Amino acid sequence: MTEAGRTDFPSDPCPGSGRRRPRADAISDAPALNLNGNWRFRWSPTDRGTGDRFADPALDDHEWDQIAVPGHWVLQGYDQPLYTNTAFPFPIDPPRVPTDNPTGDYRVRFDLPVDWAADQGRDVLRFQGVDSCATVWLNGSLLGHSKGSRLPFEFDLGDRLRPQDNVLAVRVHRWSSGSYLEDQDMWWLPGIFRDVALLRRPADGIDDYFVHADYDPETGNGILRVDADRPGRVAIDELELDVGTGEQVEIAAVEPWSAESPRLYRGRLQAGGETIELAVGFRRVEIRDGRFLINGAPTYLRGVNRHEHHPDVGRSLDRQTMITDVIMMKRAGINAVRTAHYPPHPEFLRLCDEYGLWVVDECDIETHGFIYAGWRGNPLAEPLWREALLDRIERMVERDKNHPSVVIWSLGNESDGGDNLAELERWIRRRDPSRPLHYERDRSYRHSDFYSLMYPDLDTLEAIGRRREDTPDGVEPGSEVDQRRRGLPFLLCEYAHAMGNGPGSLDDYQRVLDEHDRFAGAFVWEWIDHGLTGIADDGSRYLRHGGDIDYQPNGGRYCLDGLLFADRTPSPGLAELQKVIQPISFGRSSGQNPQELVITNRHDHRDLTGLRFGWSHAIDGRERSSGELAVPACGPRETVTVPLPALVDEEGEGQLTIEARLADGAGWAAAGHRVAWEQFPVGSGKPRRLARAPALPSARARDEPAVAEFDHETGRLLSIGDVPVLSPTLDVCRAPVENDHGQGSRNDLARVWSAVGLDRFLHGVDKIDAGRTDRLVVFGRSGPASQTLGFRTRLEWLLRPDHLRLEVTAEPVGDWDPTGYGDHRVRPPRVGLRLGLPSGYDRVRWFGPGPEESYRDSRSAAAVGLYERTIEDLQTPYPVPQENGNHVDTRWLELSGRGLPTLRIDGDPVIDFTARRWTGEQLAAAGHPYELVDSHRLWLNLDHGQQGLGSAACGPALPQKYLLPLQTYRFAVEFTPLPGERS
Ligand code: GAL
Repeated sequence: MTEAGRTDFPSDPCPGSGRRRPRADAISDAPALNLNGNWRFRWSPTDRGTGDRFADPALDDHEWDQIAVPGHWVLQGYDQPLYTNTAFPFPIDPPRVPTDNPTGDYRVRFDLPVDWAADQGRDVLRFQGVDSCATVWLNGSLLGHSKGSRLPFEFDLGDRLRPQDNVLAVRVHRWSSGSYLEDQDMWWLPGIFRDVALLRRPADGIDDYFVHADYDPETGNGILRVDADRPGRVAIDELELDVGTGEQVEIAAVEPWSAESPRLYRGRLQAGGETIELAVGFRRVEIRDGRFLINGAPTYLRGVNRHEHHPDVGRSLDRQTMITDVIMMKRAGINAVRTAHYPPHPEFLRLCDEYGLWVVDECDIETHGFIYAGWRGNPLAEPLWREALLDRIERMVERDKNHPSVVIWSLGNESDGGDNLAELERWIRRRDPSRPLHYERDRSYRHSDFYSLMYPDLDTLEAIGRRREDTPDGVEPGSEVDQRRRGLPFLLCEYAHAMGNGPGSLDDYQRVLDEHDRFAGAFVWEWIDHGLTGIADDGSRYLRHGGDIDYQPNGGRYCLDGLLFADRTPSPGLAELQKVIQPISFGRSSGQNPQELVITNRHDHRDLTGLRFGWSHAIDGRERSSGELAVPACGPRETVTVPLPALVDEEGEGQLTIEARLADGAGWAAAGHRVAWEQFPVGSGKPRRLARAPALPSARARDEPAVAEFDHETGRLLSIGDVPVLSPTLDVCRAPVENDHGQGSRNDLARVWSAVGLDRFLHGVDKIDAGRTDRLVVFGRSGPASQTLGFRTRLEWLLRPDHLRLEVTAEPVGDWDPTGYGDHRVRPPRVGLRLGLPSGYDRVRWFGPGPEESYRDSRSAAAVGLYERTIEDLQTPYPVPQENGNHVDTRWLELSGRGLPTLRIDGDPVIDFTARRWTGEQLAAAGHPYELVDSHRLWLNLDHGQQGLGSAACGPALPQKYLLPLQTYRFAVEFTPLPGERS
C-alpha cells in the first residue's frame, strides 16, 4: 500500500506525520491566501473513501457535490450528527476504529495571486481544525496526517505549489484513534470545520514567539521579554519601547491587564520584512498561601463553561457569533470562561484579551467513554498514548501562550488518572511556568494547582471552603498528598447544571462561594444549549436534541443544558446568574427606613469610577421619587456607606431600588447599561387593596347581578360576574422540569409523581353546604386511581357584593409513602388551584416579583413591580416543553382581553400564578414546542406554592427547604370582576 492510500492511519495511535512544529497563533502582514469557500466533496460510508485515485490532480471532480469549508458535513446534508454524553459511538477497541468509518473526501483547486512569489519564503498550509483526522495531499503529493480536532496543524509545502491550478485534497475520517481522546459530552460533528489558509512565510520571518509580560504588583512595573525563534525587534510606541527579541526590559508604571480592565499595549514584532501584531497585557498569575492571585490581588472567577455552538453550523462559529458570546457574557457580569472542553477558535481568545475575560484554556482531551470498560485501557494510563496526549498539550500551549486572557491551563476533562498526566504536567511547567494548571478528575490533585470538583452539594462546598473536606477516596488521610490538596485553592469547574428550567440555588451557592477565600471561582455548566436547527412538518423551526436523531447510543436531551437556548435567546437562568454574581452588592445599615446604604465593590481589580448610582422609591409599583447617589471612592473589595434621602411613608407597599449603571459606553454595552441593582422593602404599608363594597349581602341591590354563579348540585363555580369559568380543581403536579427527572435513577422525582398518579388526580365532591346565600362550602376529595393518597379539600366560597372570596383547605390523606419508591417520599411539587377561563383573555398585569418567571429557589432576578405581559410572552419556550412561567409571591393580578370584563385576582396575602393556553398535562406530553396547541381556553394556576427547580439533572437533590412539606394547606384568593373592559 502506498503512503497515499494508507488506510491504517485512523486506527494508528500516532497524532500525525509530516506536520510542522506547533507555534503561536499570530496576526501577521505576510501574504496569506484564505482557502475557505466551496470545495468539491464526496461522502462515503467506509474509510476507503472514494478510493485510491482521490488525491490525483487529474481526477475529474467537476460532478462532485460542493460543500462549505469550514463546516461539518453532517450539517450539510451528509450522514447525520450524533450526540452521546459519555458513550463512544464505536466499539471500545483502542486505538482501533471500525472500517465502517464515514469518510469525507474534499478537493479544492486554487491559483496563486500574481504577486505571491514576490516575497521570498516558504509556503505553509494551515488548518485550524479538522474533526476527527485529516490526510492531506497537494498536487498529488502526500503532505501528511493529523489528528486532534480542535487544534491547528501546518505543513511545509516545499516546491509542490504551482502558480495555477493547484489541487488540494483532504481525506477526513469521522472516527480515528483521536476520537478516543475526544469523548466530550457534545455532538460528534466531523469535517473541516475551522479555517484553511495558505501562508507565505518570509525567509527571515519569525515563526514562533513567546511574549513574557509580567507585572510586579509591588512596584507597578511591567517586565517584558519577547522570545522568538529568530532575531527581531519589539516595538511598543506608547511605551517608547524598541528592543530586540530576547532582551528583558522593565517598564515603569504600566497599567496591568485584568478581565476588569483589559489594558492592552499594542505593538509590533518585526523580522525579515514581516510584522506581527502584538497585544501585550502585563499581568502576573500566582498561587500564594493557598489563594489564587492575579497582579497580587485575590481574584475570583465568575465563570461559565463554553462550548462552541451554533444551531446551524455547529462548532464552525464565525467571528460575529464569538463577539455575541463575549458581549453577552460581559453584560451578564460573567468574567471568566472555561473553554469546555477543548481550545476554542483562536479568534475567541483574541476577543477575550480585548474585551476582558479570564480564560481557563482546556485541552482537547476527554476519554470519558472508558468508564464503560471500567477504565481499563484508559489512554491517560497507557504508554501507547503518551505521544498523542503530549501532542495535544503542546499544540494548545504553543498556539495560545501569548494571550493575557489565558490565566490557567486545563489538562482536559473527565479522563480519570494515569502516569501520562505527570508527563503533561512536566511539559507545561517547563515550557510555561507562568500559569497554574487545572485538572479535576485525578483525585490526588498531584498534577493540579487547584483542588476542584463538579456539582458538589452546598454542605460539601462549605466544608471545602473551610479546608475541612473529607479526604477523597484512594488518598490516605493526613498523607502528604492529602495535605497538599488541602492547601490548594479550590476551583468549582462545573456547578449549577442549567438544563431546562433552572438552575435553582444559584444564590445559595454564591453565598458559600463568597464566604471563603479558598474559592478561586466557579463555572456554571454551561453557556449554551447544543440544539440543532430542525424544521417541523408544519414548516416551523425548532431545536433538535440527540433524541431527535434515530441512533444508538444516544445522549438524548442532555445536550440542552445552557443558560442560552441554542439560538442564543437567553433563558431566565442567565438573568438569575447575572443578579447573583453582580459586581457590586448593596445592603442596608439597619432599620425599616434605611438611612444608610452599604455598597460593596466585588471587583477584584477596579474601583467604582465609571458607574452612576441611582435610587428610586415606588409605592405599589408606581414610582414616587428618584435621584442620584453620590458614592465615594471605593477600591476593589472595599465597602462604603452612603446616606439615603428620606422617603415618604404613604399607604401601600413601598420598594426602594438601587441601581448602578455604566456612565459611559464600554465596548460591550452602551452608557446606561445596568451592572448591579438591589431592592429593599421600605415603609410600613401593605399593598393597597381594591376599595370594597360593604360585606353585608343586604347592601346589594336586589336587581344587581350576582358576583358569581354556582351549580348547587355539583358545587361547581360557573361564572364570575359575566365570565364563564371552568371551576377550580386542586392541582398538585407540574410538567416535570428537566431537574425533576434527576440523573439516571438518582433523584427521579418525576417518575415517582407519575407512578403514584399526582399527574392524574380525579376529583370528587362529598358534601355541599349551601345553607346561606352568600356562602357555599364544597367538601371533596382529590386523588389518583389505584392509590389511597390524596387531599381532602374544603372550598369555602364567600360571595360579597363586588367580589368572590375563596378559602381553601387541603389536607393530605392516605398513604403518601407508598413502598417501592426508594428514598423518594412523595411530595406534591405544587399545591394550588387550576381554573379555566375564556381564551379571549390575552394579557396579564400583576404586582409582584417579575417580569421573568420566578421560583422559590430562583427569584433573585425578580424585582417587585407592576408588570404587564401577553399570555404568549409569559411562556418561556424551553426547547423541551416543561413547567415554566411561574411568578412567586404575586400580590394581585388582572386578566384582560377584548370584549371581556377585566378579572382581578388578589392573593391573601400572595399567590403564585401561571397562565397558559394548555394544561400542565398537555405541556408534559409535548416533546417539542410545536406540539403545544392552543386548547382555546386560558388555564390559570393559582398556587399556594410550587417546589424549587434545583439542578438535579446533574448535581445534588433539591434541598429539603425547596420541597413542599406534606401538610394541611390553607390559603385564600379573591376574584373581582372589574367593570368594563380595560382600554
Ligand atoms: C460534566 C461534564 C460536562 C457535561 C456535564 C453534564 O460531568 O464535564 O461535559 O457532561 O457533566 O451536562
